[in-house]
Amino acid sequence: MEEFWARLYRPSSRPGPDYWTYYAERLVHLADMPDRGRILDIGTCDGNVLFKAMERVAARAFGVGIDIDKDDFYAGFTEVIQHGWKGKISFAQMDANALGFQTETFDAVLTNFLGFDDFYDFERMQFTGSDDIVSEILRVLKPGGQVGIGSWVKQSDIDWIEEAFMKYLPEIFSHGGKGISDYSRENPEGQKAILQNGGFENIRVYVDTADFVSPDLGTWWRQMERAAGEYFRQVNHPVRLTVFKEQVYADLDQIRFTQGIRFSKSVSFAFGVKPV
Ligand SMILES: C[S@@+](CC[C@H](N)C(=O)[O-])C[C@H]1O[C@@H](n2cnc3c(N)ncnc32)[C@H](O)[C@@H]1O
Repeated sequence: MEEFWARLYRPSSRPGPDYWTYYAERLVHLADMPDRGRILDIGTCDGNVLFKAMERVAARAFGVGIDIDKDDFYAGFTEVIQHGWKGKISFAQMDANALGFQTETFDAVLTNFLGFDDFYDFERMQFTGSDDIVSEILRVLKPGGQVGIGSWVKQSDIDWIEEAFMKYLPEIFSHGGKGISDYSRENPEGQKAILQNGGFENIRVYVDTADFVSPDLGTWWRQMERAAGEYFRQVNHPVRLTVFKEQVYADLDQIRFTQGIRFSKSVSFAFGVKPV
């Protein structure tokens, strides 16, 4: 039965099993995609979400991917050429807080895992700063156009390794581990508040929980070194890290399945429409 519900993802060039692709597909699948027009993907990285959106609309739309960091665009360019999408997709380095597009340019805006914790506290459920990103999304969308956002609710593999750090290496955390964080933990209620406050209507939210399997301990460890890199960088003594690895392997053995190491991830997707 395990094979039926656990997803074994082949490792990609991105950190971890290829759950990024899975969640890009989910976001695009749940969105009301325009048949034509222009689609914007914010925090595009290597174009993951944008490519899924282009596949869904059979490349009839024009796609734009923006990211504050341009290092991953090159992987995206290669894929654009491979798909024959030259002239249909553009990448631009840009800060989502100040989008360099004219008002009412896009028919749909998508963004997966941008992280909204810079201006919203998802524990206290209150704004802590100015939500310029949301205002910018509203501005560049055409009336009637939809925004779709995806946020991590829980990544149990990263939470698990964080707890292992607390248990076996408490001395490296001067503040008991506080202040180190590898992903923004968000929730549907907060996403809804952000979109409502931003002026969107017809808001819908979905939570998607899925299991992901790493084939063996070595692969899982390497995935964690990248996904929870902030924690690993705190340990600057190689012998201590080796001992920690042995402790983690022993603990993982208790929960290992025949297929590999399985952990779940939960993502919340929220959609809102710009009033006409
Ligand atoms: C976790 S990655 C997600 C990448 C992609 N959306 C996906 O799902 O595969 C978040 C991306 O958002 C980008 N980013 C963060 N803050 C940004 C900002 N203010 N403006 C534009 N991009 C930003 C980062 O550089 C990074 O590439």
